[in-house]
Parts: sequence; C-alpha cells; structure tokens
Amino acid sequence: MADEVIAEPAAPAVSPAVKITVRPNGPFRVEGPIELVDVNGNGWDLTDKPAISLCRCGLSSKRPFCDGTHGREGWKCDATPIPADPIAQG
Ligand code: FES
Repeated sequence: MADEVIAEPAAPAVSPAVKITVRPNGPFRVEGPIELVDVNGNGWDLTDKPAISLCRCGLSSKRPFCDGTHGREGWKCDATPIPADPIAQG
C-alpha cells in the first residue's frame, strides 16, 4: 500500500486591503485590489495595475488619474488626520 499524502487545508482566502495615501501637494495613491467606475458603473481597465494615482487637484487632463499637472502648477494642499477632540468624546 502506497503512502497516503494528506494535503494541508487551504488557508481561507483573504482579500488584501486597499491602501490610499494622500500625497502632500499631490494625488491620492491607491494600492490594492481596485475597481474604479464612473457614476454609471462603467469601469476603467486597470488590468496589471497594482496601484493608481487619482487626481486631487482637479487640474489633470487625464482625470480621474493624475498626470503630474499639480506639480507643474504648484498646487498646494496639506491633508493630515485631525486629532480627535477629547472634549467631544466625553
Ligand atoms: S493631483 Fe496630480 S494632476 Fe491633479
């Protein structure tokens, strides 16, 4: 009788999280499994794109994607998390 090979149970599939980074004076960098659609549900082909940069300044000619215009135009915008208000939390 041949040795029986018992396979390990497969680990449950876990969807990797999407990470969005707010770049200083620049776009939103979106990494992870991304589906990007317009208001009608029509999607952009993001095949083989593990990350995209979405325009935050509104100046890109390739919206919703960043085309680097923010840098050429000197667009400035800081965005950092606002600490929670300890008074509001009680
Ligand atoms: S954020 Fe880059 S062109 Fe708008």
